[in-house]
Amino acid sequence: MKRNRVHNFSAGPAQLPLEVLEEVRDELTNYKNIGSSIIEISHRDKTFVDLATESEAQLRKLLNLDDSYEIIFMQGGATLQFSLIPINFIKKKGKGSYAEVGSWSSKAIKEASKVCDVDICFTAKANNFTEIDKLDKWKIHDDSQLIHYCKNETIQGINIKQDPDFDLPVFVDMSSCLFSENINFSKYDFIYACAQKNFGASGLTLIIVKKELLSKANPDLPNILNIKSHSEANSMLNTPNTFSWYLAGKMFKWYLEQGGIIEMEKRALTKSKILYSLIDESSFYLNPVNKAQRSDNNVVFTIHDNSLEGKFLKEAEAAGLMYLKGHRSVGGMRASIYNSMEKSSVEELANFMKDFEQKNG
Ligand SMILES: Cc1ncc(COP(=O)(O)O)c(C=O)c1O
Repeated sequence: MKRNRVHNFSAGPAQLPLEVLEEVRDELTNYKNIGSSIIEISHRDKTFVDLATESEAQLRKLLNLDDSYEIIFMQGGATLQFSLIPINFIKKKGKGSYAEVGSWSSKAIKEASKVCDVDICFTAKANNFTEIDKLDKWKIHDDSQLIHYCKNETIQGINIKQDPDFDLPVFVDMSSCLFSENINFSKYDFIYACAQKNFGASGLTLIIVKKELLSKANPDLPNILNIKSHSEANSMLNTPNTFSWYLAGKMFKWYLEQGGIIEMEKRALTKSKILYSLIDESSFYLNPVNKAQRSDNNVVFTIHDNSLEGKFLKEAEAAGLMYLKGHRSVGGMRASIYNSMEKSSVEELANFMKDFEQKNG
């Protein structure tokens, strides 16, 4: 534990690197000697516009994105995209193919169903979202105009590692895995992710979209609901979440300094392996997810004897291992170990788990 900080396993909003927070603290009242905080000036001011330009350049460098992709920052969380995607990209009450691979993709389906004809091309509901069929087994309807799914289901701790290969535009929620995986962007047409897991504070959503697709978006929507309008206004159609944007810029810089996405992916694999090996070697803990599809960011587990889970969480908290309770909809435990989490915190959790098993197993 660093100074007075706990080991923070929150699924989001999630912990940030201490050095980034300290930098923010140091410049909070006087950003770059302008005599104001970054959140006290206009987003149209040159200082903020420069910050926005620099953050986009750093993001492009970090993710190796060329000019064929548009980068957009929006508000409304990843949740807003559940509605915006169908109204922008499905024509006249047409059909969209949606895969149901966990709670977040279910939520997307529920919202899309209000504005388009949703065709469920695959559902993992029957196995309780513990195993997902290969993408070429999904049944895509002939009339479908797009495909949507969530790559990393934060609640169930399951991740689709396979890249898509469809003839239709592919829209993917990467809220809890972007920046932890080396994504082959050419395989995806529209990626979105909320900031509060891997790149800052809530209230900011990043969209990475192929320009060619964006040019086909529905032009008849009110501006604020029109994704293309946000892009044309350089994500400043109205006042953006300037603090979150600023923080995202700091995170992109931090990623570059740390060695970029390849390094993040390596670290994520190392950290998740510590926990999955422990779980698999024990007859005390259990992870139900198909081994090849386990999330490297959200490690879910239960105790065979469920009655011990309350005790586990209480004693974990007393040891400074915080926010390990699984999502209220599924119970159990969940360790979210995004990029900002140090390996030493994961090791601390692993030691605690071994110790708890020894005492209670
Ligand atoms: C995969 C995924 N999608 C969407 C969301 C919703 O994000 P927001 O609360 O920013 O709308 C979350 C939030 O936890 C998530 O994990």
